[in-house]
Amino acid sequence: MPDATERCSVAVIGGGVIGSTVAWQLAENGYRVTLFSEPAVEHSTTWVAGGMIAPWSEAWPGEGALLDLSLASMRAWPRFAARLEENGHEVITARGSLAIAADDGDVADLHRVMAWLEQRGEPVAPLSRREARALEPGLAPSMRPVFQVNDEIAVDNRATLLALRDRAAAAGAILVERRINDLASLPQDQIVVAAGPWTSELLPELRVRPVKGEIMRLARRSFSAPPPRSIVRGWVRGRHVYLVPRPDGMVVGATQHEAGFDTTVTAGGIRDLLADAEAVFPGIADYAITDMSAGLRPVTPDNIPLIGRVDDRTLVAAGHGRNGMLLAPLTGSAILAELDGQPLAEAAAAHPRRFA
Ligand code: GLY
Repeated sequence: MPDATERCSVAVIGGGVIGSTVAWQLAENGYRVTLFSEPAVEHSTTWVAGGMIAPWSEAWPGEGALLDLSLASMRAWPRFAARLEENGHEVITARGSLAIAADDGDVADLHRVMAWLEQRGEPVAPLSRREARALEPGLAPSMRPVFQVNDEIAVDNRATLLALRDRAAAAGAILVERRINDLASLPQDQIVVAAGPWTSELLPELRVRPVKGEIMRLARRSFSAPPPRSIVRGWVRGRHVYLVPRPDGMVVGATQHEAGFDTTVTAGGIRDLLADAEAVFPGIADYAITDMSAGLRPVTPDNIPLIGRVDDRTLVAAGHGRNGMLLAPLTGSAILAELDGQPLAEAAAAHPRRFA
């Protein structure tokens, strides 16, 4: 590896989970990094997220390339999490996922997902009512358990982002709160655009669009049923809801709308989330609502992110869709490898020029 003094300067645009991970990885490997983030952290997609590191239960039949990419990143998560927790940040909030269904159609859909995962040899296991009840006594008896995945985890997205920024700063990255509108004005040798759904504003030739997701945070009260210990994913009459444990409650998400850059939290969105979450976990009715927010998933035409070089000076790390947290370690390694001149074979499917 070249000496740190040989390494160039890099501007990383975007202070969410992807930009902060890239900044950390590059700074730790001797690059002179400036991380530009939006002044208001609450506008970051990462701040709104549920924090599931869930490649299998987020998978969809036919999206094998995305699952392969996700699994490559999943393998890096245990060490990634351990390093984030070294400085006293607690990031992991749950281990294991359960997938449960409300009606026959939901059961059939979940069976289709499970069959595809089983065919690939993935670690999904059928889940009986008795097992589900033993694991999560608060689930509604009417819900029908379908499968579980023991290897998935959930992290506190906000604690993770703060830990990442701490690590980036400790490794020598300079953190600047400023919106960047013009890449040509930056003095750094190299630029990594990790601006989530705003990436297309800086690199219009790349196709990343925002897909809105509304989410709620709920806090347990003294007499409420305890929150689930696992990530619970409910398929409720054709809609999807997830309950992601937090030490004091849970995150419930998320709606999915093509609404441009609108981040209004709507009455209809919250109604649907609450109805589906209560169908899954009736005890939620006693919880306090502490936050309702909307984030913008950065989505590409094939749901696979854009990770790699765009031109001699510019790289991109964006378009991670529903999987920003999960794909962060792989993205950091892939951008480092690209700058080092040794592109990572595991990230080949995410080449940003594949639509050209
Ligand atoms: N990864 C969950 C979501 O995008 O809502």
